[in-house]
Amino acid sequence: MRSTAASSAGPLLALLHLASSGAWAQITPQQVYQPPPASRGAVSQQSNLTNGVNPQYADLLGNALWFYDAQRSGALPADNRVSWRNSSCENDGSLNNTDLSGGFYDAGDYIKATYPFCWTLTSLAWSALSFGSAYERSSQDAYLDSTLRWGLDWLSKAHSDADTLWVLVGNPSTDDQYWGGDQDIPGPRPSYSITRQNPGTDAFASCAAAFAASAYLYGERGASLPTSTGGAQLGGVASIHNRTYSEALLRHAEGLWDLAVNSSPKQVYNTAAPTAGQSYPSSDYEDDLAFAGLWMALAKADASYANQGLVFYPNGTNAFASVNSALNWDRKVAALPVLATQLAQHNASFGLQMSRFQNDAESYFDRLTSGKMQYVSQTKGGLYWWAGDSDAASLNPALNAAFIADLYSGFATTSAKNSAYRSLADSQVDYLLGDNNYNGPFIVGQHPNSPQNPHSAMAAGGNDITNINTSPPQELHVLYGAVPGGPDKQDRFFDIRDDWPQTEIALDYNAPLIAAAVSRIARNVTKDPPFATLTGAANVASGRPTDAAYPARKKGGLSQGAQIAIAVVVIVVVFAAAGALSWWQRDRIRWYYRQKKIGL
Ligand SMILES: *[C@@H]1O[C@H](CO)[C@@H](O)[C@H](O)[C@H]1NC(C)=O
Ligand SMILES: *[C@@H]1O[C@H](CO)[C@@H](O)[C@H](O)[C@H]1NC(C)=O
Ligand SMILES: *[C@@H]1O[C@H](CO)[C@@H](O)[C@H](O)[C@H]1NC(C)=O
Ligand SMILES: *[C@@H]1O[C@H](CO)[C@@H](O)[C@H](O)[C@H]1NC(C)=O
Ligand SMILES: *[C@@H]1O[C@H](CO)[C@@H](O)[C@H](O)[C@H]1NC(C)=O
Ligand SMILES: *[C@@H]1O[C@H](CO)[C@@H](O)[C@H](O)[C@H]1NC(C)=O
Ligand SMILES: *[C@@H]1O[C@H](CO)[C@@H](O)[C@H](O)[C@H]1NC(C)=O
Repeated sequence: MRSTAASSAGPLLALLHLASSGAWAQITPQQVYQPPPASRGAVSQQSNLTNGVNPQYADLLGNALWFYDAQRSGALPADNRVSWRNSSCENDGSLNNTDLSGGFYDAGDYIKATYPFCWTLTSLAWSALSFGSAYERSSQDAYLDSTLRWGLDWLSKAHSDADTLWVLVGNPSTDDQYWGGDQDIPGPRPSYSITRQNPGTDAFASCAAAFAASAYLYGERGASLPTSTGGAQLGGVASIHNRTYSEALLRHAEGLWDLAVNSSPKQVYNTAAPTAGQSYPSSDYEDDLAFAGLWMALAKADASYANQGLVFYPNGTNAFASVNSALNWDRKVAALPVLATQLAQHNASFGLQMSRFQNDAESYFDRLTSGKMQYVSQTKGGLYWWAGDSDAASLNPALNAAFIADLYSGFATTSAKNSAYRSLADSQVDYLLGDNNYNGPFIVGQHPNSPQNPHSAMAAGGNDITNINTSPPQELHVLYGAVPGGPDKQDRFFDIRDDWPQTEIALDYNAPLIAAAVSRIARNVTKDPPFATLTGAANVASGRPTDAAYPARKKGGLSQGAQIAIAVVVIVVVFAAAGALSWWQRDRIRWYYRQKKIGL
């Protein structure tokens, strides 16, 4: 049993703790935000604005950030808001004589994975730079600060030696076999690194991007990125400004950029450290170099970084016409022309040719919105679906597309394109927020119809790995603000704990929800989100899901019941024999799809 100060102490004591802790964030909230009961999500609030903000959107943002508090690893601070979380894995790194305690658990399990996490941090900083005025208006700026710092402080430890970046903490195989709380996480927990001699170009670059974007966000009171050709500024978070912190972040960014461009051979980190890259194998490094170069140029106010990075930008005539990939932790290519357009507007002296990047961004968005993008379709309910990526977690590709369409729409060269991109962004976010066949928001704890069974070992409260779904019958803790994988291609959501493609939660899944919430708040969208006015119960799909979490069944003479019985026996036997079969793990399937290069 460890400290859980905020839970037992009550609000007043919690405030006192906050005032005295200080080490984790420079600004403290005026009032501690705790997620309200889900019932509050079912009340229209559009005539009850606070600072011009619909409280439903403030709660969405508040809960989405609270989720990151629930994922914290290491010694929890006195102002921990998640009463049921304990300090854990405080000795991470010790096996390798380094301090890697802290940071965040990646998803429903207990590994800490640097490469996807850097994308998550970069997207949080990016949405704050673009729409960050929302944070102060909804009193969430202190939580943005504490979330970013909890991540960046850990990332700084992972790069405490100039020539090393630690890319994974935890044993992926042991971790796959553990289902239980944060007090019995199995050891040993080895750590895996890449180095100047054994480089991972993509991870170095992605990490440089995270540091550079954050350094810029913290660096100047007015630091922001424009969201239209008119130069509209809705971004920046003045209250978190801290020059000292920004400079420390920038030193890391410079060191990692140097590693990315000057170490050889250039290769993906999973080549350098195969075990570390097992859960999140990266398919290339060019996109990371181009992305990092743009962020470095911004943070250093020096165009030469952008030019160095753009060597790795898709080139040749109409190169973007063949870019079809979803945007995610692995593939950042779709984000490149959007960020480059913002930078071209931000600082004309960078010499970036805006029309080139507008052309590329529009090539991507036009094919998407006109239904002409290879490998991409829409479900009946309207969710954009990338073959491969969406089968392993459907909401994330669609919401990341919404994120960049939202950022870009103000730069569209015609008003028809502007409205097509806006409606792409709005429709995908509204789908997330309840405008869907499930009749509820795909956000845990937000509304009475929210999913009840996120695949999260610590929230579930059980420790029987063979009975994840029923032990305990009701998930013990509400993982407020968590976005699950999402529905299947028929818009069906089964809400079953072991169905990881649908119900697993992850750090990167929440980033585009935060982007959507701050965008709507910053743009003064006061109309209720769709869930606030839903009627009727959640439309939870019944029967057995047909996705990758469940072994495929051959069509034949057996009844479905017999097939399920056989499947269960097979699973148990294989599980006992192999000991390491982790069929509920999303990571394996991601690996499978990556290898197959579906949808790329
Ligand atoms: C700025 O950040 C540094 C490093 O985290 C911290 O020590 C300092 O207290 C912060 N300054 C202010 C004014 O909050
Ligand atoms: C949103 O409303 C606030 C006042 O509540 C105003 O200061 C701001 O300019 C508005 N922003 C936009 C983009 O209309
Ligand atoms: C109006 O919003 C405030 C602040 O979010 C909240 O405390 C209050 O309950 C809301 N009022 C109604 C009628 O919902
Ligand atoms: C980290 O420690 C583990 C366990 O002692 C060891 O197997 C591994 O080689 C070490 N890794 C590095 C990069 O030093
Ligand atoms: C935190 O510790 C308490 C007391 O040991 C335990 O009941 C609770 O389940 C732990 N939380 C998690 C997420 O394991
Ligand atoms: C085009 O891309 C290739 C492969 O990334 C690169 O080697 C080449 O230098 C680029 N050419 C230009 C003109 O940027
Ligand atoms: C714009 O970039 C130039 C270098 O190209 C730099 O000197 C200047 O400070 C930058 N301006 C801003 C506002 O960042």
